Amino acid sequence: MSTESASASVLNINALFDNPLFAGGIGLASLGAVAAFARKGAIATLGAARRRLLVNVEISKQDPAYPWVLAWLSQPRENLGFITSRLTRIHNLSVITTTASRTGANGPAHAHFFLQPGYGRHIVKFGSAYIAVNREKHNTANMNTGEPHEIVQLTTLWAHRHVFEDVFSEAHRLAAKASEGKTVVYSARGMDWVPLGDPRKKRPLASVILDEGVKEAVVDDVKDFMERQQWYVDRGIPYRRGYLLFGPPGSGKTSFIQALAGELDFSVAMINLSEMGMTDDKLAYLLTKLPKRSLLLLEDADAAFINRRQRESDGYNGATVTFSGLLNALDGVAAGEERIAFLTTNHIDRLDPALIRPGRVDLMLRIGEATRFQAARMWDRFYGDVDEDHSGRERFLGRLDELGLFGKGPDGKPSHRHTSTAAIQGLFLFNKNEMNGAIDMAEGLIPKKFEVGEAIPEGAIKTPA
Ligand SMILES: Nc1ncnc2c1ncn2[C@@H]1O[C@H](COP(=O)(O)OP(=O)(O)OP(=O)(O)O)[C@@H](O)[C@H]1O
Ligand SMILES: [Mg+2]
Repeated sequence: MSTESASASVLNINALFDNPLFAGGIGLASLGAVAAFARKGAIATLGAARRRLLVNVEISKQDPAYPWVLAWLSQPRENLGFITSRLTRIHNLSVITTTASRTGANGPAHAHFFLQPGYGRHIVKFGSAYIAVNREKHNTANMNTGEPHEIVQLTTLWAHRHVFEDVFSEAHRLAAKASEGKTVVYSARGMDWVPLGDPRKKRPLASVILDEGVKEAVVDDVKDFMERQQWYVDRGIPYRRGYLLFGPPGSGKTSFIQALAGELDFSVAMINLSEMGMTDDKLAYLLTKLPKRSLLLLEDADAAFINRRQRESDGYNGATVTFSGLLNALDGVAAGEERIAFLTTNHIDRLDPALIRPGRVDLMLRIGEATRFQAARMWDRFYGDVDEDHSGRERFLGRLDELGLFGKGPDGKPSHRHTSTAAIQGLFLFNKNEMNGAIDMAEGLIPKKFEVGEAIPEGAIKTPA
């Protein structure tokens, strides 16, 4: 009796439970606990189910497939049903704008807007599979370029996992189609190769006119090299070939390499050695990770040999690539295994013989001042259809002879005067449909020499109307 009364006085539990308010409270609390527990359980089960039932593919911005996949996502899709078309609408877009100047002198620029799925979540349908897309920007950035890291995540059902293979091959096929007939030019940005602008239309090899046999010699050599990979591998020789094109400005060196890349269906990876900020380390690193199927183009190779030059009055500090840096990048231990390199220079005399060694430079070619052969071929390309009997061409060549522009005066003595193919092209462009105009203005092909301090005579610089 006494115990009973004690427990009742300390914890009158029975009485408490008899209290309907208290009992209701406990009931609610336990319901809440059960609900919270169930929620946790559901989340965990969902997470597990997600892991078991879904597949994720993450593509980072650094991966070459990144722009392909984005472009693939922006493809218009046809024949979607009512619900699907509503479900897969992309509400969040980002734009990439490219501009190109309109043909014609001062017209406004053409702008081309390309819409891509923006950041956030989207749903697309591919075949019978739905794919959830999540494009995210991270708050970390690429140390080289300063660009924030980005990823695209594709998620689909485990049962549909094989759809990714098709997605990637489709994205790649689209990208390949977009650059079909085009040459991609890569340049170095930071420590990465990035496409320089949009892919350019392939330049036909026939549009570059070099002296007799020169073009064929290089093209044959490159093609022969490309067929011999196994031969190099079998003999343990690095599969590399180097060409040095030298000669005066405007002789078609760069144009030729670009056209050759088009012919071989290669891209061009270009580095200007005289560029500020190009260092030995950077050069060596870039050369180890050249884009696949590309011709390496090292412009102004002489820059590496004059870098000891002091800072000049215009603030130009000289290039920062050194001679040994260039040699090491070309065939040091870290040099890439496979490579076709073209070096160009206007100043062959400044190069060091060490550069011209098999493995670094295997073939040296002078692409010189315009010859009679080139002038004739260029004439035919421009006026071939209006000058059917070639009389115009003969008059033009006769005029150039008279002006002594092929190195010899009319009397057969050296004239020490030459012109460049770029200048001839300029003259023809100026007189597009008028071959007589080109003959009359041929005097303009005489190279002008500017002395420091010399006043430019009035009327010497004409701008095309
Ligand atoms: N041999 C050529 N055949 C056709 N076009 C030419 C030729 N040489 C020059 N050109 C034209 O002249 C311009 C300049 O040519 P390019 O840039 O190829 O010269 P380059 O030899 O690389 O000059 P630089 O040494 O100054 O870099 C281009 O528009 C090109 O089309
Ligand atoms: Mg050039």
